[in-house]
Amino acid sequence: MTVQVPAGLRDQPGWDPTWAPWLDRLPRLVGDVLDDWGLTPEGEPAHGRCALVLPVRTADGAPAALKLGWPHEEARWEHLALQHWHGHGAVRLLRADPARWALLLERARPVDLTTVDDVTACQVVGGLYRRLHRPPPPQLPRLSHLARGWADRLQGLPNDAPLPRRLVEQAASLARDLADGPGVDTHLVHTDLHYENVLAAGREPWLAIDPKPCAGDPAFEPAPMLWNRWPEVVADGRPRTALHRRLWALVDAGGLDEDRARAWVVVREMTNALWCIEAATRARRPLTTADRALLTRTVTLAKGVQD
Ligand SMILES: Nc1ncnc2c1ncn2[C@@H]1O[C@H](COP(=O)(O)OP(=O)(O)O)[C@@H](O)[C@H]1O
Ligand SMILES: [Mg+2]
Repeated sequence: MTVQVPAGLRDQPGWDPTWAPWLDRLPRLVGDVLDDWGLTPEGEPAHGRCALVLPVRTADGAPAALKLGWPHEEARWEHLALQHWHGHGAVRLLRADPARWALLLERARPVDLTTVDDVTACQVVGGLYRRLHRPPPPQLPRLSHLARGWADRLQGLPNDAPLPRRLVEQAASLARDLADGPGVDTHLVHTDLHYENVLAAGREPWLAIDPKPCAGDPAFEPAPMLWNRWPEVVADGRPRTALHRRLWALVDAGGLDEDRARAWVVVREMTNALWCIEAATRARRPLTTADRALLTRTVTLAKGVQD
């Protein structure tokens, strides 16, 4: 059978030259994996930014979800993290073919944490941190190594980059200090746990999906819970209060070190800004309106968690 690639996935910005060829291969790939694994599609495909997810039935009639991911480095070890969790706090991995970036997952319900108020969602996610943060499998990339790379690149930003230099310098120095200190590579961390990556389920109220795992620091986790649902943060003109409410809920429910959590937010925000500037520079184009909005957000956030 042929599965149509949803328009919403096709419309994602093709920031990488491998994106369009992967999209073109996708219908064929889905058909092959369905055949090879004896799966029957059941309902419309879902997608995020980087994957197609098709509800299916297995040969013995069990509901499942087939995920075909766009091949990129951050998602390389998704199957390993899910396998390691054995369904504790995350959906179960039923089968994987890393060469085809294909995963067969326990099917969750089509309800995510955007349906819950943000602070309650932060409490749920903090509870998940406690279950997901275990000793890491040895294959995973190490946060210390990643953070040193970000520090070098931040330091290399030109002085006229459209960011407060003080924040750039601070992020680079925090990244180095955290990378060189103890406790930085000690736990399996999800790194992309946000409202849309937590789904309602039958056997537990909420389960994580879509890890971009590394061997890292539990306090690395909160940033995506702060930058997502951003309009709610700035809605009443007091972003600092809204950010602190979210961060406290995450730190408290997750048993995180608050100072480290703040420090990683600064590092991650300035690194997001760095990627945005680097992408424009690589493409030899000026920053777009969306780029500038992202830079403003990163600065508001990095300042807001420190005030
Ligand atoms: N196990 C699952 N059960 C049901 N739906 C799922 C499952 N995994 C993913 N989905 C749906 O597919 C969407 C995209 O999956 P996700 O793993 O988050 O990929 P992406 O990398 O594209 O964000 C999710 O937002 C959700 O709607
Ligand atoms: Mg996702």
